[in-house]
Amino acid sequence: MKISIINGPNLNLLGQREPSIYGNQTFDHYFADLKAKFPQIELDYFQSNIEGDLIDQLHRVGFSFDGIIINAAAYTHTSVGLGDAIKAIDTSVIEVHISNTFAREDFRHTSYITPNAKGLILGFGFDSYRLAIESFL
Ligand code: DQA
Repeated sequence: MKISIINGPNLNLLGQREPSIYGNQTFDHYFADLKAKFPQIELDYFQSNIEGDLIDQLHRVGFSFDGIIINAAAYTHTSVGLGDAIKAIDTSVIEVHISNTFAREDFRHTSYITPNAKGLILGFGFDSYRLAIESFL
């Protein structure tokens, strides 16, 4: 089984960015833990701060992978293009967020990803990604 994890803008700074919201762990460290926990899955990881690169990555993996887990970060709340890309591909997408976006500012309550995703997991910290993997199993 091949699962692609795609992280959007500013998530390269996890571990140092707003630790009271996003914790102290880097995503690279967490990704190594995930790979060890699910040795039977081919896990792929991509991060970009650039909207078009995230769309290109969805196109790259969206016709051959078994599942996609996306945290589009701030683009969740703004990007018609990412929503359309998810609609255009074959692979099921689970939207994840580290924080509970509904407990935060109003502008974080809108998502262009959710209407096109298979499901949404948020508010469980980094564990949101593990739960998304479990949902594909
Ligand atoms: C986030 C929530 C977004 O609102 C925010 O812009 C992020 C991270 C999360 O994982 O909690 O960058 O997607």
